[in-house]
Amino acid sequence: MKRFWEEPVNHRILARALAFVEGDPVRVVDVGSGTGDGLALLEAVTDRPLDYTGIDPDPEMVATAGATHEGRAGVRFRQADVRDDLALAPDLWLSAGAPWSHLDHDESRTTLVRLLRDAARRDRPTAVVVDTLGRWSPEWPAHWADERWDYRMSFFQGAGDDPVAAPMSTHTRWSIDAAVLEADVPLAALEFHDRAITVGRHTSTAAFHPGLPDYRGLVNALYDGDVELDLTELALRPPSGTAPAEVEAFFAAFAALWNARLDRAIEQEAALGRSPSRRRVLAADLCALEHGAAPGLGVGHSLIALIVVAP
Ligand SMILES: C[S@@+](CC[C@H](N)C(=O)[O-])C[C@H]1O[C@@H](n2cnc3c(N)ncnc32)[C@H](O)[C@@H]1O
Repeated sequence: MKRFWEEPVNHRILARALAFVEGDPVRVVDVGSGTGDGLALLEAVTDRPLDYTGIDPDPEMVATAGATHEGRAGVRFRQADVRDDLALAPDLWLSAGAPWSHLDHDESRTTLVRLLRDAARRDRPTAVVVDTLGRWSPEWPAHWADERWDYRMSFFQGAGDDPVAAPMSTHTRWSIDAAVLEADVPLAALEFHDRAITVGRHTSTAAFHPGLPDYRGLVNALYDGDVELDLTELALRPPSGTAPAEVEAFFAAFAALWNARLDRAIEQEAALGRSPSRRRVLAADLCALEHGAAPGLGVGHSLIALIVVAP
């Protein structure tokens, strides 16, 4: 799921971001770098020389990342908090894995405004990738009315019955756009991308939406060519919660398209029989459908903004 469905979204955004920046090497600051997965995402899409600094306030993360990437030239990790004025002026502010959602809405707005205004003082373009949790993910319709809530990170390995709880902010196109408007800087690009609309990891845990089908597990089974799977289990019901009309309209239209693809696959199987290869093709087809339909509103597990400030 990560490889076929989720990471291609990051790769596309990072390739877009790199197309705007000029540094040689490209100077990168990875916000909330954790153990440095953002660097791998970046290296998957470019051969350009990079000067990479990962920042994270968690000393254990910084130590682990430093040990993992020890000896690599042009790669370093620093204990630092993006909310502080760090006097960094990279070509690319990277983020992955929704670190911006750790900040409350006031903090993310003031921090982003500061980064964008600092970027506008450079004589070269700066790309800023802001990775957050989506407000209107089908994984948590009961929280659609809340901007910040206790997010149990039950996907952590070994968390067992006692998941780590942390308050997290969810975002929409408009919550990020408000900061961009406030910064009032010259822009070369402003794009919003939803990542994992149908298959967010909490469709597997159902932690925030009891009874939600395990779409992630079901699609994984399709990718494995599992012919035992009953395709009707993949039918999408538009989630219902408190959301603007635009979001409701998206889910209604998207569910109709998704279910039509499924119906066609079910008809084909009735005529031709089940085959692992056709099941894998269906998985890829549903993935392409979601990638093509994603409106960048905040309707997926993650909402990722690409903001390019150009002098
Ligand atoms: C889910 S992890 C993502 C790690 C990594 N980027 C990845 O893709 O796997 C989110 C990270 O954001 C970091 N973080 C939380 N608050 C932060 C802040 N104020 N400034 C920078 N990083 C922060 C956390 O310590 C954590 O390592």
